[in-house]
Amino acid sequence: MVDDAERGLKKGLTSYGDSAFSLFLRKAFIKGMGYSDDALDRPIVGVVDTFSGYNACHANVPDLVEAVKRGVQLAGALPVPFPTISIHESFAYPTSMFTRNLMSMDTEEMIRAQPMDAVVLIGGCDKTVPAQLMGAASANIPAIQLVTGPMMTGSHRGERVGACTDCRRFWARYRAGDIDDQEIAEVNTQLVPGGGTCGVMGTASTMALVTEALGMMAPGGATPPAVSADRRRIAETSGRLAVQMAAQDLTPDKIMTQEAFENALTVLLATGGSTNGIVHLAAIAGRAGLKLDLDQFDRMGRDIPVLVDLKPSGQNYMEDLHRAGGLPTILRELKDHLHLDCLTVTGRTLGENIDEMPGGWTQSIVSRIDKPLYREGGMAVLRGNLAPGGAIVKQSAASPDLMTHRGRAVVFSSVADMGARVDDPDLDVTADDILVLQNAGPKGAPGMPEAGYMPIPKKIAAAGVKDMVRISDARMSGTASGTIVLHVTPESYEGGPLALVRTGDIIALDVPNRTLTLEVSDEELAERRKAFLAPVHDGCDRGYKKLYMDTVTQADQGCDFAFLIPHPSGSVPGAK
Ligand code: FES
Ligand code: MG
Repeated sequence: MVDDAERGLKKGLTSYGDSAFSLFLRKAFIKGMGYSDDALDRPIVGVVDTFSGYNACHANVPDLVEAVKRGVQLAGALPVPFPTISIHESFAYPTSMFTRNLMSMDTEEMIRAQPMDAVVLIGGCDKTVPAQLMGAASANIPAIQLVTGPMMTGSHRGERVGACTDCRRFWARYRAGDIDDQEIAEVNTQLVPGGGTCGVMGTASTMALVTEALGMMAPGGATPPAVSADRRRIAETSGRLAVQMAAQDLTPDKIMTQEAFENALTVLLATGGSTNGIVHLAAIAGRAGLKLDLDQFDRMGRDIPVLVDLKPSGQNYMEDLHRAGGLPTILRELKDHLHLDCLTVTGRTLGENIDEMPGGWTQSIVSRIDKPLYREGGMAVLRGNLAPGGAIVKQSAASPDLMTHRGRAVVFSSVADMGARVDDPDLDVTADDILVLQNAGPKGAPGMPEAGYMPIPKKIAAAGVKDMVRISDARMSGTASGTIVLHVTPESYEGGPLALVRTGDIIALDVPNRTLTLEVSDEELAERRKAFLAPVHDGCDRGYKKLYMDTVTQADQGCDFAFLIPHPSGSVPGAK
């Protein structure tokens, strides 16, 4: 319980002479908004407003702010909305990942700077939820995550479509000459038919589900569509819960424990979630003092099957998962793999929450655990002389016949080089080759773009080839699929072995045995290393870009800034 003298407007008083005068000033100013003393003498729940004209994924934030405020007021506290920056995937130059840590610092510092007893974080688009949870973990006041919710699906010539797995599918068909200019223009209008986050198991859906599993979201809060009444009700509930959390001083460190992160990782695997989820969970766990152990995560993945039939690993959309009961339906199947006694934002345990949620009807979106969609978890961790610090492959979205593959490397030295040459009719490449992209990691691009989903060279795509092995230190969108090895660590910019690969080298990928091998001798690699020079980026001598380049960590540490990560007190998943 919190001492009354440390509540509401009295919290964190700055000193203008004496604290009574500071409070007097605060009240004088906020009364300019028309508040009464009665309103101001209550606990305060901050509500993070991330509406932005650039962010269609957050188009419903104004509605959600109103619903959260209603919940807070019904529970007897004062809601105070405030803005932070908002990041949309398509409108964040050079990449949204580059700005994620900026948003996390904004969130943390605005929570610290302003008086509030709890905070409702409203996010949704890929980077926003991780940024908010990172900020909340560091600020460590009672915090609850609300997401904007998935968009509805659209319809194109009678076919159901949704961002953005279908964006990629249609673009690939257009590149291969299957569809014409008119059709690609037509579908462009249908892929995002309204506000909300991408409706497939991309990063936004993944982060929504893992956050609910982590215990940081109202039960059932991950899946209601952005435009639904359920979504507004969850917002109201989140407001109510925030007031209760403030009274109980239910801070993030009591919820985001090692066991809770294991629950989140279990759900990441079982949903066939986005590979970005692993980077973000590493970053959030890092803020909570826990280091991600990739090898333990891989071991976990061998036991947790993929259960959820959503694109890109499966066929359906988030609105279908919502109708199937949302995350609680998944959690019921996973019960034997979860820590059910973890505390959540409800003040009850995950197991108690699951028992209270409706479910149990016949549905076809979440498989029974004894009849999974895919026997192993969605992701595998590879190691070898090409990735001493690890690399990730989303095996549930890869081609089974390429999981073991040996081929000749065709190397692109940067994203720009790839863009310039990949469709060149004279490019020396066959379908059995392995495309390698360098300098697209955290520092290399910089900002670790989603360039890992390299296009199949046009002449090969035109021959009907849909997939090739592709390897990079980049990320890929959670909405993409293919046999794509990502997050190669250390990245090439840091002089990792990826930087030393040359066209013509042989690379062996062996997912079942979790290896990624560059078949070049150590002596030869040592020789090549002597000639290594990191590329030079413009504008790194000032501002946020300098901070980023000086302090960003590698993918296995979540690409957080080193100075924001406390010394770890443990690792996650814990050893079995
Ligand atoms: Fe925002 Fe996909 S672009 S969730
Ligand atoms: Mg995305």
